[in-house]
Amino acid sequence: MHPLIRNRRLRSNEAIRSLVRETILTPNDFLVPLFVVEGKGVKQEIPSMPNYYRLSLDLLEKEVKELWAMGLKSVLIFAMVPENLKDNKGKEATNPKGLMQRAVKTIKNACPEMLVMTDVAFDPYSSYGHDGIVEDGIIINDDSVEILTEMSLSHAEAGADFVAPSDMMDGRILSIREALEDEGYINTGIMAYSAKYASAFYGPFRDALDSAPGFGDKKTYQMDYANRLEALRETEMDIDEGADIVMVKPGLCYLDIVREVRDLVDVPVAVYQVSGEYAMVKAAAEKGWLDHDAVMMEQLTAIKRAGANIIASYFAKDAVKLLG
Ligand code: PBG
Repeated sequence: MHPLIRNRRLRSNEAIRSLVRETILTPNDFLVPLFVVEGKGVKQEIPSMPNYYRLSLDLLEKEVKELWAMGLKSVLIFAMVPENLKDNKGKEATNPKGLMQRAVKTIKNACPEMLVMTDVAFDPYSSYGHDGIVEDGIIINDDSVEILTEMSLSHAEAGADFVAPSDMMDGRILSIREALEDEGYINTGIMAYSAKYASAFYGPFRDALDSAPGFGDKKTYQMDYANRLEALRETEMDIDEGADIVMVKPGLCYLDIVREVRDLVDVPVAVYQVSGEYAMVKAAAEKGWLDHDAVMMEQLTAIKRAGANIIASYFAKDAVKLLG
C-alpha cells in the first residue's frame, strides 16, 4: 500500500508543525479578570480558585503594572462589596466613591494605557445575590435596567474604557448606549455578555465575591444551556442595541455556540473561560491527574480555534508566561 497523500508529512517534526499551525495564542488575545477588595496590603487567595486573589487597591496597582510588562493590556474588574453596603437596589453600585470606581481610577493612574473594562451587574451589591432588583421573589427587569444604566454611567465617569453588562436583563444594552451618548461618553464601549448561560461553572466566582443568590437561581434571566438559537437571537439583539463586543459564556462547554456566533456576526467575539473551568483544571492538576500547563494551553487554543477574538481567562498570566 502506497498512499499518495500522507497527512503525517505535515506533522513529522516541530518545525513543520509550527509552520502549518492554524491557531496561535498571543498576549493580545487575553482579557484579565481582577477581583478587588477594600483594605491595604490585602492579597487573599480565593479558596476555590487556587493561585487567584482578591487584591486591595495598593496591590492592584502593582498587579496591573506587572500585567502590562507581560504584554497583557486589558483587564476586567469585579469588586467585592462589604455585606453592610449591600441592599436590594444596588445603591452602592452607583457610588462615585465606591470600590469599583476607585479601582478604575487606581488602574488608570498606575498604568494609563491599560484598557479597563468593568462588570455591570447587581449581584455583588445585592442583598439577595441577584443581578437585578427583587420584588415578591421575582427579579424585575425594567427598574433593574435603570440602575444598571446609572451604574454604567458611573463607571464611565470613573474612566472605564468599556462597560461589560453581565446581568442578562432585556433592553439593557440600548438603555446603556443611549445614556452614554446623552452624557457625552461617546467613546465608552460596551462589551455585552450576550449569550450568558445559567451555569453551574460560576460557583467559585460566587465564592470570590460572596455573591451567590440568596434564594432560587438565575434561570429567569440567564440562558438555558440547552438552547442554541436563543444565543444567536440574544447576540444579534445586543449588536442592534449598540454592543461593540459580544460575549459567549462559559467557554469550553459552549464552543459550538462560539463558532456559530463568530460565523454570524461581524463584531469581535469574546469568550469567558469561567471560574469553574479554572477550578477544575487546578483541582485535577493538584491531584496529579492532569498536566496543568498542557491542559491549560489546549483549552485556551481550542477557545481561540472555535472563534474567540478575546479570551477572558484566569489563566491569562500563566499562559503568557509559557508563550515566552
Ligand atoms: C456577575 C458575573 C458572574 C460572572 C461574571 N459576572 C456570576 C454570575 O452571573 O452568577 C461569573 C464569572 C466566573 O464564573 O468566572 N453577574
